[in-house]
Amino acid sequence: MTTSTSSQEILLQIRNLNKNFGGLQAIDDVTLDLPAGVITTLVGPNGAGKTTLFNLITGHLIPTSGTVHWLGKPLKGVQPWQVARLGIARTFQDLRLYSQMTVEENVMTVMERSSWLWQGGRKAAEQRVTEILTETQLLEKRQERAVDLAYAERKFLSLARIMASEAKLWLLDEPASGLDPRSFDRFVTLLRAYAKRGITICIIEHNLDIVIKLSDRVAFLDQGKLLAQGSSEDILKDPHLAAIYFGERA
Ligand SMILES: Nc1ncnc2c1ncn2[C@@H]1O[C@H](COP(=O)(O)OP(=O)(O)OP(=O)(O)O)[C@@H](O)[C@H]1O
Ligand SMILES: [Mg+2]
Repeated sequence: MTTSTSSQEILLQIRNLNKNFGGLQAIDDVTLDLPAGVITTLVGPNGAGKTTLFNLITGHLIPTSGTVHWLGKPLKGVQPWQVARLGIARTFQDLRLYSQMTVEENVMTVMERSSWLWQGGRKAAEQRVTEILTETQLLEKRQERAVDLAYAERKFLSLARIMASEAKLWLLDEPASGLDPRSFDRFVTLLRAYAKRGITICIIEHNLDIVIKLSDRVAFLDQGKLLAQGSSEDILKDPHLAAIYFGERA
């Protein structure tokens, strides 16, 4: 575990970012770095601006002011599909799976957009799909339609899609919400394994058990402001932040 960022390459650099929706300041002067190989968790009460921050990174929303740099280059004006091509993949709170496609097809469609097929060929891509479905324990369900999966399986399918993306940075919006304890242990193990293989992860999470088990670093957002960042211990033990978090969610 590390909270030191000084010696690490900064993949994503957010500087003085603002987003207004009419009179509402959803993101308020946020400055944040995502260093390579570090698992950063974004926590904060409902409506804090967590999803909005993802949307600003991925080009789904345009900042009112401020900048986001990816690998040293500004993301200003870059469209969501281009952001994905540049190596930033995301999941959505509402999953957005292809509900009528099979499990396998849901993963394959991601690979078709990446370099897997034209670099390794169909066979290599199929092997990779098998590997991913094994890791997410979906192999036996590969021919089932996404719509027919159980809730936890749909969450793992969303993760399988991001695993197929070849992205360097994963932005995960509440990927473990509603998982049973056994599934979420599997989930934590899987993300840790990918982080070890060099994937940088930024995850929005409400389950504090997962936050503690998973995070190298926690960033706390409230009313659009980045109030604090540090180790999960520092952040979760801070009585002021706890009061905001639990007060607002009660
Ligand atoms: N497209 C939009 N238009 C107007 N207001 C928006 C829009 N998107 C988000 N908001 C508002 O911005 C604020 C931040 O919303 P956001 O979805 O980023 O919160 P969040 O931290 O992800 O919350 P949750 O934990 O409930 O998912 C909220 O007040 C929300 O209503
Ligand atoms: Mg959200």
